[in-house]
Amino acid sequence: MSEELESVLNESRIFPPPAAFVDKARIAGWEALQALREEARADHQGFWARLAQEKLHWHTPFSVILDDSRAPHYAWFTDGRLNVSYNCLDRHLADKGGKTAIIFESDEGATRHISYAELHEAVCRFANALKAQGVEKGDRVVIYMPMIPEAVVAMQACARIGATHSVVFGGFSAQALKDRIEDAGAKLVITADAGHRGGKRVELKAAADQALAAGCPTVEKVIVYRRSGHDVPMQPGRDIWWDQALAGQGDDCPPEWLEAEHPLFLLYTSGSTGKPKGIQHASGGYLLNAVTTMEWVFDIQDDDVFWCTADVGWITGHSYVAYGPLAVGATQVIFEGTPTHPHGGRFWEICQNHGVTIFYTAPTAIRALMKLGDEIPERYDLSKLRLLGTVGEPINPEAWMWYYEVIGGRRCPIVDTWWQTETGAHMIAPLPGATPLKPGSCTLPLPGIEADVVDAEGNPVTEADKGGFLVIKKPWPSMLRTVWGDPQRYYDTYWKQFDGRYYVAGDSARRDQDGYFWIMGRVDDVLNVSGHRLGTMEIESALVAHPRVAEAAVVGRPHEVKGEAIVAFVVTRGGRPSGEAADALTAELREWVAKEIGPIAKPDEIRYAEGLPKTRSGKIMRRLLRAIARGEAITQDISTLENEEIIKQLQGEA
Ligand code: WT7
Repeated sequence: MSEELESVLNESRIFPPPAAFVDKARIAGWEALQALREEARADHQGFWARLAQEKLHWHTPFSVILDDSRAPHYAWFTDGRLNVSYNCLDRHLADKGGKTAIIFESDEGATRHISYAELHEAVCRFANALKAQGVEKGDRVVIYMPMIPEAVVAMQACARIGATHSVVFGGFSAQALKDRIEDAGAKLVITADAGHRGGKRVELKAAADQALAAGCPTVEKVIVYRRSGHDVPMQPGRDIWWDQALAGQGDDCPPEWLEAEHPLFLLYTSGSTGKPKGIQHASGGYLLNAVTTMEWVFDIQDDDVFWCTADVGWITGHSYVAYGPLAVGATQVIFEGTPTHPHGGRFWEICQNHGVTIFYTAPTAIRALMKLGDEIPERYDLSKLRLLGTVGEPINPEAWMWYYEVIGGRRCPIVDTWWQTETGAHMIAPLPGATPLKPGSCTLPLPGIEADVVDAEGNPVTEADKGGFLVIKKPWPSMLRTVWGDPQRYYDTYWKQFDGRYYVAGDSARRDQDGYFWIMGRVDDVLNVSGHRLGTMEIESALVAHPRVAEAAVVGRPHEVKGEAIVAFVVTRGGRPSGEAADALTAELREWVAKEIGPIAKPDEIRYAEGLPKTRSGKIMRRLLRAIARGEAITQDISTLENEEIIKQLQGEA
């Protein structure tokens, strides 16, 4: 067992909700939370129907709550019609038109305030521009943008006209972009000349050009936002500047009233095998859980300044930047840059200068900032903060305590939120005015979410602290609907293990004596690097695509800041490199993977051997490789290995 797991096991501190927080909380106290849970347990569908009616604006009310006739392809509120962009913008105009929706801070530090009325106008005009470029309901639009308000405008504009967007993280390479455009069959791409992050320019248009030159036959038009201002080639007939596309477009764009199941977006995520999966989300159910979790978990109130640091390229940037905060009429911060540029206090400076009250980030960022020392955050006034949150991976208790004491001043509850791209919204998380916290635990499932830990037969693990498979036993509104274009993969990945009875999250977990959930990690070959899921298969395919690589295996190793580091074992064509030749090849392969997938997938370490350890049936012995990568003693039986010498090579001893 790793050190981290052990320290989690020893954690016994409990932090009840502070009285001052409970006094003003939306859900105040344990009984209030239990009442919601009871309501959901007594009538699961009635519970979600009540919330859907109360929290969303429906153009056509629904009469069907849950359609399970094609289970596990569940459908929610099927005969209802609504528009997500209307729910996020139009419905606030009467009483909140002048309220700030977005406080934007650029990489260089320039700030911009955008009111709900201004955002509504921008979205309507851009939606009209999309229509003028031939985008229709049901078309797919790929968004490959920097973290700027226009990315949200683009997403909301798609939602308004019923185009299904697929945001590709700006840190992904041309190759990754091409794969996603092609899988989605996108008609139009929205990008920028470049992005600005940490003082560096990210050449988005160049990458988009490269992707389109390599394939992508479905793409007809490319809209380019001028962020950087440097020269980029524009292909006549295909490329159009954002401003030109807007020219002459009015700000009146009535929303399309869409079926609740209309696909709002696809978002690609890594799996253990094959190409990335296009996770398909619906409209009504997705928005409902974005709203309920903004209220329950973030306790969002009218005067809050909410800041979720995630990029719109990830699910967190969808649910808690582009949709959730707007749907509840909140004020939020959007920041283009990085936590440490131009100095290590950038995040805390933003919290101070914009009066952030709710701050939501990833454990990897917390650990990185913790390493810089307490004196940095201590320079800033963080007294407006009232609630902190984390997402993406388990937070180690040391980082939790630092976050709690140094950033939150022992006054702010921390909501550790477990969820996934597939779940659309928080699933297991505390309600800050109701749930006692334990550092390192995401606590308990939200009302209406039937999470459990089961054994290989699907029976609940009743023994405290015993690990098992994390499953969800009942459908929930914001669940993924399918894998785009591959319903079989949807079934095989998420349902097959227990014959369609339970949604299988792919995480292992345990529950303690109080029923609290402790996430133990992924069960498949997926790494969690800085809070992002990377398939080992994908990195391996990228490596073997290099002419010098014959075979490759990739595993993770615990890393202090990133959660997991990527270790690659490589067999080269024509002799095992050593010394300077090995270093040169390593540098080349790291760049190669960055180009094939993106810089986040770069192996931290590459080891060369004449072969990889395999079972008799030819399967790579990954557990063995993991032990080697961690420098642990080998406990596996290696007597069947043809060439034991390669173990020494992989250990770096030969
Ligand atoms: C995987 C989902 C949901 C947005 C961020 C990542 C891990 C997520 C937690 C948490 C422990 C967590 C799980 C999960 N994870 N949140 N609070 N505690 N682990 O989204 O890329 O879809 O990854 O991230 O392993 O399955 P994603």
